[in-house]
Amino acid sequence: MKVLVIGKGGREHALCWKLKQSKRVREVYCAPGNAGTHFDGIQNVQIEMNDTRGLIQFAKREGIDLTVVGPEEPLTLGIVDAFMKEGLRVFGPRRDAAELEGSKVFAKELMRQAGIPTADYRLFRSAPDAEHYVLSRDVSLLIRSKGRSTLRHPLLCRTASEAMEAIDRIMDPREMLSPNVTVEVEERGVRVGFATAAEAKDYVLERPVGLVLKADGLASGKGVYVCDNIKEALAAIDKVMVRRIFGKAGDRLIIEERLDGQETSILAFTDGRTIVTLETSQDHKRAFDFDKGPNTGGMGAYSPAEIVTPELMAQVESEILVPVVHALKRARRPYRGVLYAGIMLTNQGPKVLEFNVRFGDPECQAVLMRLQSDLFDALEAVVDERLDEIELKWDKRPAVTVVMASEGYPGPYERGRVINNLEEANAMKDVKVFHAGTTLRTDPSLGRDDRAVTDGGRVLNVTALGDTFVEAKARAYEAAASIRFTGSWYRRDIADRAIQTAASKVPV
Ligand code: AMP
Ligand code: GLY
Repeated sequence: MKVLVIGKGGREHALCWKLKQSKRVREVYCAPGNAGTHFDGIQNVQIEMNDTRGLIQFAKREGIDLTVVGPEEPLTLGIVDAFMKEGLRVFGPRRDAAELEGSKVFAKELMRQAGIPTADYRLFRSAPDAEHYVLSRDVSLLIRSKGRSTLRHPLLCRTASEAMEAIDRIMDPREMLSPNVTVEVEERGVRVGFATAAEAKDYVLERPVGLVLKADGLASGKGVYVCDNIKEALAAIDKVMVRRIFGKAGDRLIIEERLDGQETSILAFTDGRTIVTLETSQDHKRAFDFDKGPNTGGMGAYSPAEIVTPELMAQVESEILVPVVHALKRARRPYRGVLYAGIMLTNQGPKVLEFNVRFGDPECQAVLMRLQSDLFDALEAVVDERLDEIELKWDKRPAVTVVMASEGYPGPYERGRVINNLEEANAMKDVKVFHAGTTLRTDPSLGRDDRAVTDGGRVLNVTALGDTFVEAKARAYEAAASIRFTGSWYRRDIADRAIQTAASKVPV
């Protein structure tokens, strides 16, 4: 069989690497691929992932037996529909099913209809409506005037809007110069005084609210704002709906309740009739150690997610996976491919944060490292709608993936930095270095394209297996430490949560 993988990240490198291990696969192509796929004997094809016509032409010319789509963007643009129309076999959901990731509004409405547990939400089509909603959140403040006789009694203000109005009443602009008028804001017995209306209002806007704002459309993972206070929520509305930093993706906005708990990623294959879950995993979205700093595309991952017990997995299957596959089928958008449920394990049980219509990145790297079954057989069974014949075998040992990033990421960064010692790291036992943001550059001494240079914010996904999480982590970090490129950095605490969970399970 000849297989084509579309994409150029660490996920696609891992898919290529695993597919190449299949006895049934003769040749693996990757469009456009990266330096890592090239080093692994995969044929990189210089066609970009959204060039559907170019990809179809290539698949026909080369007689590709199966195409696997890595990223969400081509899926939401309908690449699977286009391939199928040409009679080409392709792994991934069609466009109308890929809406599950392409539109958060669609996903939320589907979940609501199907009774799938998820955060309560409201939908907004305009910035003023969204702002009004945020300013109407319960803050419960007591506003008092000091030094002004007309407003002697404290005003109980339920919402931020009411509090701001009260401040305006006390701090009449005409009395601004009156030095002895101040406003006092009381929250649960704590009183704070302010000499100006602006300061008092600022304080009101800093009151905590647990809101999460989400741009409807695709925003390369950056369209979600977990807001601690009103000010942050207003700033997010401004970015998405006023400045429109994601363009049309920000036409609609979801505001939902913030959930508390541990997150986990559950991936499952489905052909629309059968669901086969993969081993659990967990990524680390924040840039810095101890989950500090901005959200990123993922700074590391581990598998399995020890907090997901078999009982919990059964609950996720019956309350989330089965209903969503069924709901899509009933909506005449049958789903075929890999389904990714981002889940928060709350006190009230598992709730869906998001659905993705592809493998998680970097979760895929850790999960595939543990897959012992033939990946080609599994993907083919999904495409041919005979997934019921497949049983997946897994390495019991845990896997840890450490993301090595470019200096400056997730902000601006430079590309083109030479990466050294890749071979040594790759040669280590139970280690695989997947490439994410790399490309090839001509090595002058060899006269051919044989040097890996950085070409993205997240550069490498150093993945290791170990008998325990402690061992897998140590191995991954040992390999990462041996790889050199200028400005490289990585989180130091990948998998620590799993190590703690594992430790707490040991009987005393
Ligand atoms: P999403 O792209 O929807 O997964 O959102 C990205 C990240 O935002 C998630 O992985 C969570 O960490 C966080 N998040 C999304 N929705 C919520 C929510 N309702 N409550 C708390 N955190 C959330
Ligand atoms: N690791 C998160 C994602 O793939 O969306």
